[in-house]
Amino acid sequence: MKKISIAIDGPAAAGKSTVAKIVAEKLSYIYIDTGAMYRALTYKAIQNHVNLENEQELLAVLQKTSIELMPGEEGQIIILDGENVTNDIRSAQVTNSVSAVAKHRAIRAEMVARQQEFGAEGGVVMDGRDIGTHVLPNAEVKVFLLASVDERAARRHAENQSKGFPTDLEQLKKEIATRDKLDSEREVAPLRKAEDAEEIDTTSMSIGEVADRILALAAERN
Ligand code: C5P
Repeated sequence: MKKISIAIDGPAAAGKSTVAKIVAEKLSYIYIDTGAMYRALTYKAIQNHVNLENEQELLAVLQKTSIELMPGEEGQIIILDGENVTNDIRSAQVTNSVSAVAKHRAIRAEMVARQQEFGAEGGVVMDGRDIGTHVLPNAEVKVFLLASVDERAARRHAENQSKGFPTDLEQLKKEIATRDKLDSEREVAPLRKAEDAEEIDTTSMSIGEVADRILALAAERN
């Protein structure tokens, strides 16, 4: 079977990475979490006291930064300059700052180039905000996952609780809505459904059902 590319986009906490991991595993494809790349840069910039509004300074940091994504026991492991930052990049501070970093044109150009290199051979499932529109415009399968803010916050809340993290449902709702607004309204490559992407409203679907829907599309387009 031919190795195709699968692009999964959608707003924050829509279940993209959970579904993408399942689909990649079933097809023995590589999985690329592009949000983790923006998060890794944000983490490093915060550590180094870089002003997140300073595009050139951020770009200089990125150009000297290695970000590797590797499969691990419990999902993707993120290695930043040789250091495992898988958990660090999920902190509230990074989550609430990442959209400021991701809005810069020069940062996106460099990230997109790296992502396209990762996906160059096909056989890839990539998730993010601009995969179907910019990173893999020729992907054979493009989906856009949707769910209400309440539903997404409730899912993230349950996930946090199961991991033993402190979590506040109302706060999560606010943070998700704010991040969606920033990501949708930015000038460069805003969060958008690609014209040829299939929209899947996951509100009343299980993760398995969403994964099966994407696998069915992959089988059709293969
Ligand atoms: O997917 P995740 O929630 O981890 O993404 C973190 C942030 O990275 C998003 O809120 C967005 O600002 C940025 N992002 C992006 N383009 C992508 C993936 C993520 O701008 N392809």
